[in-house]
Amino acid sequence: MSNNDIIVSLDIGTSKVRAIIGEINNGTFNIIGVGSADSEGIRKGAIVDIDQTVQSIRSAVDHAERMVEIQISEVYVGISGNHIGLQTSHGVVAVSNEDREIGEEDIDRVLKAAEVVAMPPDREIIDVVAKQFIVDGLEGISDPRGMIGVRLEVEATIITGAKTAIHNLLRCVEKSGLKVKDLVLIPLGAGQLALSKDEKTMGSVLVDVGAGSTTLAVFEEGSIAATSTLPIGGDFVTNDIAYGLRTLTDQAEKVKLKYGCALIDSAAPEVVFKVTRIGSNVDKEFTQEDLAAIVEPRVQEIFQLVRQEVKRLGYNELPGGYILTGGTMSMPGVLEVAQAELASSVRIAVPDFIGVRDPGFCSGVGILHNAIKNVRVRSGGATASSNNKKPVNRAKPNPAAAAQESSSEKPGFLERLKNMFSELI
Ligand SMILES: Nc1ncnc2c1ncn2[C@@H]1O[C@H](COP(=O)(O)OP(=O)(O)OP(=O)(O)O)[C@@H](O)[C@H]1O
Ligand SMILES: [Mg+2]
Repeated sequence: MSNNDIIVSLDIGTSKVRAIIGEINNGTFNIIGVGSADSEGIRKGAIVDIDQTVQSIRSAVDHAERMVEIQISEVYVGISGNHIGLQTSHGVVAVSNEDREIGEEDIDRVLKAAEVVAMPPDREIIDVVAKQFIVDGLEGISDPRGMIGVRLEVEATIITGAKTAIHNLLRCVEKSGLKVKDLVLIPLGAGQLALSKDEKTMGSVLVDVGAGSTTLAVFEEGSIAATSTLPIGGDFVTNDIAYGLRTLTDQAEKVKLKYGCALIDSAAPEVVFKVTRIGSNVDKEFTQEDLAAIVEPRVQEIFQLVRQEVKRLGYNELPGGYILTGGTMSMPGVLEVAQAELASSVRIAVPDFIGVRDPGFCSGVGILHNAIKNVRVRSGGATASSNNKKPVNRAKPNPAAAAQESSSEKPGFLERLKNMFSELI
């Protein structure tokens, strides 16, 4: 990545596919284009129809390309879902340089060593995030480059995903004619974007309430500690509106976007709208208060489930509280409902860039943020950061190349173990 580079993220969500174009210009980062398209082929955050998903990706990317008048060929792709797993790992290598100065290559090797973990055959590593480096027993090092040492260790979090889900995602993007530069765990990128350093250190929960899913991620000691996805989101609210008002889902969604309010107390009884009822051609009038009476309990339920899930993950009150993102957080009154249900400090995060000031854009902008941060760390221009990443080029242009790549990129377990020991000796 040079000083004047363009990078593109792709967030394939249940309701929208979003392509965001970022530009790095002499060290400053800006969003220069955004393309979005209604999502077809995704249900509850998972790809259920490859061809429809490809079409949605194409229209989002075409939209972004038209805006900036460039051709997009490579993208950073967001991934999330209930198939994601995190596990901690430890890697050790001997510093290779004769003068014992730790370099890029040592960091790559130690992260590779941390990747050597037993894993079921249906899972694949998406990313390895360094929590801390240890040089000759000295702990808490975020960037060991340039230090002198004999023994380099890393404590890392390995992010894994189901092979089938990863395959489907890569297949869709490649079928759209795009090369996948890398996969980025959405809550990791969004957390890096939306959480302050203190929030990440003290402990906090990032909650992304999308359309078909709600993803939560716990950050502790500066890094991601747990993540989970619930199959519930804004569609749950829309469906209930459709039942409550006895109207079609499409109309319920429109009404929600225009008049939706999550808090009965702040809904206006004088704001009225009409909907066509199923099985009748006569429109019926409702007030915003009627609508809020349907919405509020559903939004409460989402936050109750979030709280339960945080408990199930083994966390109680986290001092940094809850940071909320996702399109559903655009609804008036959600913050108040969240504050009441989560009984903790709660805020809504919005990306601070022109054109994407909406909580629904946190994922897409977070993916870009993660990509830039990793490149900066790798090229040594970073502010101290513990995150590093293996530079995997996931593009698989044809099956033969794909086979070749995966065999060179992912040696067998024994081979990796052997490499690790040879590095240690
Ligand atoms: N102003 C608004 N008021 C109420 N709901 C809104 C508003 N804007 C967006 N939403 C809701 O937000 C949801 C979309 O959020 P988002 O774009 O984050 O989801 P997604 O990424 O497509 O889905 P997911 O992450 O679940 O796969 C939809 O349910 C939509 O109705
Ligand atoms: Mg989403």
